[in-house]
Amino acid sequence: MNRSPKTYRVKSFGCQMNVYDGERMAELLTSQGLEATDAEDADLVVLNTCHIREKAAEKVYSEVGRLRREDGTRPLVAVAGCVAQAEGAEIHRRTKDVDIVVGPQAYHRLPELVAKAAQGKRALDTDMPAASKFEVLPGRARQVRPSAFLTVQEGCDKFCTYCVVPYTRGAEVSRPWNAIVDEAKALVDAGAREITLLGQNVNAWEHDGRYLHDLIEALAAMPDLARIRYTTSHPNDMRDGLIAAHRDVDKLMPFLHLPVQSGSDRILKAMNRSHSTESYLRILDRARAVRPDIAISGDYIVGFPGETDEDFEATLDIVWKIGHAQAFSFKYSPRPGTPAATMPDQIAPDVMDERLKRLQALIVEQQTAFNKATVGTRTTALLERPGRHPGQLIGKSPWLQSIVVDEGAIGDLIEVDIAAAGPNSLTGVVTRKQAA
Ligand code: 5AD
Ligand code: SF4
Repeated sequence: MNRSPKTYRVKSFGCQMNVYDGERMAELLTSQGLEATDAEDADLVVLNTCHIREKAAEKVYSEVGRLRREDGTRPLVAVAGCVAQAEGAEIHRRTKDVDIVVGPQAYHRLPELVAKAAQGKRALDTDMPAASKFEVLPGRARQVRPSAFLTVQEGCDKFCTYCVVPYTRGAEVSRPWNAIVDEAKALVDAGAREITLLGQNVNAWEHDGRYLHDLIEALAAMPDLARIRYTTSHPNDMRDGLIAAHRDVDKLMPFLHLPVQSGSDRILKAMNRSHSTESYLRILDRARAVRPDIAISGDYIVGFPGETDEDFEATLDIVWKIGHAQAFSFKYSPRPGTPAATMPDQIAPDVMDERLKRLQALIVEQQTAFNKATVGTRTTALLERPGRHPGQLIGKSPWLQSIVVDEGAIGDLIEVDIAAAGPNSLTGVVTRKQAA
């Protein structure tokens, strides 16, 4: 039997790094002569999965189940990403409906795995090879979206006690300077006007004595690149140079996603975060001193084992002190194999629900206030996608707010007056069709 696929579809879940990996897999498959399709009847479907929170594996099995067609046939199915890494051969044991299991550090080998699967054999690759996938992946696509992702760093050595990433993505690795600069050039040549540098600990990026701010400065020298962002940062890697870049590099957007996770020092210790609430707040002071309008985003976990009412109140308290432009919050989810999963005093689900509700209400309040404060100001927007109504476009402000406008084209960097604001988006009136 030979089921060599002609068309493919990649579906990514979870973080931006997965979105990036999904794009690279798509480019690889295209370079092999396969054709991308959004249609349900693709010959090959790649599920690029996320393992960070609850029921990750269960969700994958139900996604796989849904790929069966009415006539009983199904496409070739590959499970990629962090669930593939964490579950490995268990996926093949649990279901006959998955042909390929491929981890986040091995997906450059997809063509061989697909060829094997096309012959009716099951294929598995969850290696973390010493040679990086980036060295063999084909060049970037010739056309990309105006806002592009570029992975510069992967993996994590920090071992927060709740987190699976050090196990699924492996140790911290920084890509070399030249590879990143070349990829940035290719992205800009292909139409990118904004690049977001990605890494699990992006500000830990280091190569030959150069740091993330050196890279940002180098990219800022590219004339057709208008905006630079980076995410996600760790408080312990927040070097002075990066803070200074927020003052010195115009193209670096005034936005900092810097998770603190909890406002309780006792919980931070149990999480093995190796920073305190105080040291976190001092970083924000430094950033705001050089860039007073910098927008602060973050991540929070409620219901970490042992979290008392008092600990949770401390989290609300630090959110008050920070004043977020936006933030993400999650219920703690025990991840198999992580130290926190077996800690005593796991928190009851109803307590977590209640805490999450209160925290999210506060965050929405802050987000709305942040958005409302921009009404009546003039700013820029990079138009990224069509809006809900005909003729509408959605762009992003420097502070990562969505702005809805009525004119322009995707890829334009426009100047707008902010006319109205809600919790999730702004309405803008275009004042100049080319701001840069
Ligand atoms: N449970 C809940 N949230 C988690 N995160 C990471 N691991 C877990 C977990 N086990 C959250 C953290 C991290 C974000 C990407 O996901 O807040 O910053
Ligand atoms: Fe999910 Fe984390 Fe893996 Fe990203 S790195 S895919 S968020 S588990």
